Amino acid sequence: MNANSFILRVQGLAKTFRMFHLEATLHAFEDVSFDLSAGEFLLLRGHNGAGKSTLLRTIWRSYLPVAGQVLYQSRHGEIDLANAADVDIALLRREEIGFVTQFLNARPRVAAQDIVAEPLLLAGHERTAALEQARHWLDQFGVRRELWRAYPSTFSGGEQQKVNLARALILPQRLLLLDEPTASLDAGARAALVSRLAELKAQGVAMIGVFHHPGDVAQLIDREINLGTRVVAPAQHEEPQYVAV
Ligand SMILES: Nc1ncnc2c1ncn2[C@@H]1O[C@H](COP(=O)(O)OP(=O)(O)O)[C@@H](O)[C@H]1O
Ligand SMILES: [Mg+2]
Repeated sequence: MNANSFILRVQGLAKTFRMFHLEATLHAFEDVSFDLSAGEFLLLRGHNGAGKSTLLRTIWRSYLPVAGQVLYQSRHGEIDLANAADVDIALLRREEIGFVTQFLNARPRVAAQDIVAEPLLLAGHERTAALEQARHWLDQFGVRRELWRAYPSTFSGGEQQKVNLARALILPQRLLLLDEPTASLDAGARAALVSRLAELKAQGVAMIGVFHHPGDVAQLIDREINLGTRVVAPAQHEEPQYVAV
């Protein structure tokens, strides 16, 4: 295969957690390998605790793996996310790789439209145009107009999720990691999300997603990976648990 035909190549990836109180090692996932090309959508399946969120967080580099590589073809060249410097990871998170969950990091006294517009402003867009786009996406995800200038820290859980999605998906990135972003959303917002994901996929955004109801995204799925049963083994050695970024 041509080295540049994938945007992400995960090879032999494994993550364990030391459970000191049990003197045991929990294998969250082992020997995961796959390639992902631009515009491809990979569905992650598996029972509760199968390691789906941990795999996404390891690719996002909140966790360091104990084995394997996460080769990513960035605009600046190939980089192993498992070994990259924190400063490079921070830059990729701003410019190329997105992580979408159901949770909004609502800061006090920042209006919904400003939270949503922020990724555009950081990318150098002009303020009036960025706010206009922010209001467009708030509207698409079903956030009422009266709330656009209000502070999301007081919003309902569902309203916060919608603000979160508008912000996470306003700026097309090259790789999107989605961890159950539709959990407890109403039907209108779920439909808006699927239509935005379809649009991003058509623009070449690669995606890895976990969905509580995969039927919602059936039309987007190119491939599936099923994470198997985990193993708890006696402790053998120490390994890094977290990194700071
Ligand atoms: N930070 C952590 N420390 C210890 N164990 C963890 C940590 N995060 C996840 N786990 C364990 O790893 C396993 C996989 O969790 P997770 O990836 O959240 O599963 P899923 O998303 O598939 O439901 C679970 O048994 C969970 O308890
Ligand atoms: Mg999970």
